[in-house]
Order: sequence, then C-alpha cells, then structure tokens
Amino acid sequence: MEFAKSKAIASKLVWVAETGSTNSDLISAAITGGQDNWPDFSVYVTGFQTAGRGRDGRQWLAPAGSSLFVSVLLRPLAPIENLGWLPLLAGLAMSRAVAGRLTESAEAAQNAGRVGVKWPNDVLVAEKKISGVLSELLPDLSGVVVGSGLNLTLTREQLPVETATSLALLGDPAATAHAGGAIDAATLDDILSRYLSALRELVNDFNAFGGDAALAGLQNQVELGCVTLGQAVRVILPGGGEQWGTAKSIDGQGRIVIETSQGQTASIAAGDIVHLRHQ
Ligand code: BTN
Repeated sequence: MEFAKSKAIASKLVWVAETGSTNSDLISAAITGGQDNWPDFSVYVTGFQTAGRGRDGRQWLAPAGSSLFVSVLLRPLAPIENLGWLPLLAGLAMSRAVAGRLTESAEAAQNAGRVGVKWPNDVLVAEKKISGVLSELLPDLSGVVVGSGLNLTLTREQLPVETATSLALLGDPAATAHAGGAIDAATLDDILSRYLSALRELVNDFNAFGGDAALAGLQNQVELGCVTLGQAVRVILPGGGEQWGTAKSIDGQGRIVIETSQGQTASIAAGDIVHLRHQ
C-alpha cells in the first residue's frame, strides 16, 4: 500500500498487512524506539487485526480488509489532566472523515442521517455505530496512542451487532463496490487521510492552547458534534453503578454533564452511555 495522501500528513506511517493490534504495536514501538524514532503523529495501519482490542477489555474483530484499523501516537503539549480530550478529538475527527465521504455521494448523503460522536468514544451515523476509539497512555507518560476502527465494507451479516453500520451499508460508492470483501488501496488512503488531516488540525489547536479545550474552541466543537447531548441517557459507570438523566453538556475536562429528573447535575468522566430513545 502506498498511502501517498496519508503519508503527506503523518510524521511517519507504518503499514502492515496483518498484525495482532495496531495499538499494541505502536505502544511497544514507542517504548522501545523512543521519541526520536516515534515522534508526534506517528501512525500505524493494518488491513487485518487478529487480536484487536476495544474499550473495557472487549475485542475488536472484523474480517480482513473490511475496516480501517489505525493508531496514532500523540505527544501532546498539555498537562496530563487534559489528555481525556484526545479520544474525543479523535472521535470528532473520524466523524468529519465519515461525513465528508458520505456527503460526496448524493445517494449516501440522502440515506445517511446525522453523523456525530456518542460520548465518549463512538462515532454514530443515524444512531448506529460505525467507529470506536481506544486511547492508551504510554507507561512513561510521554505520549498517548489513539486507536480507531472504522467499518468500511462490512455487510449486515458481517456486523458484530445489529446496532452497528458500515460505509458500504450507508451507500458510500467505493465501499459498496467492495461490500463483503476488502477495500481498495486508494479508498483506504482517502479515508485515512481525511481522518488524519481532521485530527491533526484539532490536535494542533489543542497544543496551541496548552490543552485548554475551552480556550481553543474545541469544547464547543465537540459539543456541537456530540449526538449524545439533549438525549435521555443511562450511564453505566466503571464500578457497575448507573446514572440516569438528560445529557446536557461537556465540561472543561471533557466530562459529560447529566441532569437528573430531580434537577441535580453530575459530571461523569468515564462510562458507557445508552441513548434511551433508541434502545
Ligand atoms: C471500542 O469501541 O471499543 C474501541 C475500538 C477501538 C479499535 C481500534 S482498531 C485500531 C486500534 N487497535 C486496537 O487493537 N484497537 C484499536
């Protein structure tokens, strides 16, 4: 694979035909090779993951060639307490890449519906998941690996769950042409370059304001692109507890702010959200 467009954006881009997990590969490479060999915006991409990892210890598996599997190493100029913004920015960047592809085809644009981020880490199109983000801090705290999986050619039968979708199912012409099989190199490069360029722009702004997402205008952009806001939600908290309410906003640390039916607010840093209207 050549990846001419994507290589023009990444500092370094490594493609492997098959691997266990691009997040694991990039983390080990960054630990072993150090900052000089693995600078900010180093990218690892594959066509097939045999041990792909999702959030909360879940698996992320998809047929060979059916998806974009990409990990980006970021070395942000921001305090550690602000790094929770990075997966949100990655989700926003992916939602822009997906929306860009869909709006280029009249049929896909008509069928697609709203593209946006489901807090904290999913990209949805018309309430169906098309992409997920797994963000991991390097053990020496010198960077963050942000890994994304994007469903490209998967057919309905190949989807892991009914609540997922793919670019092919949404009518993207190139993905549809390869439905059920492997995407072609030019399309993969086009989609990857859209994602990398959107992410680079967002992360540049994040760094320029020392990780202050509000000052950088990123809090506002993420709120505008977040399909969770305004919805009645159930939040499944990491310890197993639950919080019910209406998602109101995203605060300065990237936490979601929920208002309960008693009018109390809670800011939540981590959890799985269920959009109740769409259950
Ligand atoms: C989720 O929704 O649970 C997050 C899924 C993240 C999957 C991507 S695919 C590329 C990178 N490598 C991995 O092993 N995981 C992430």
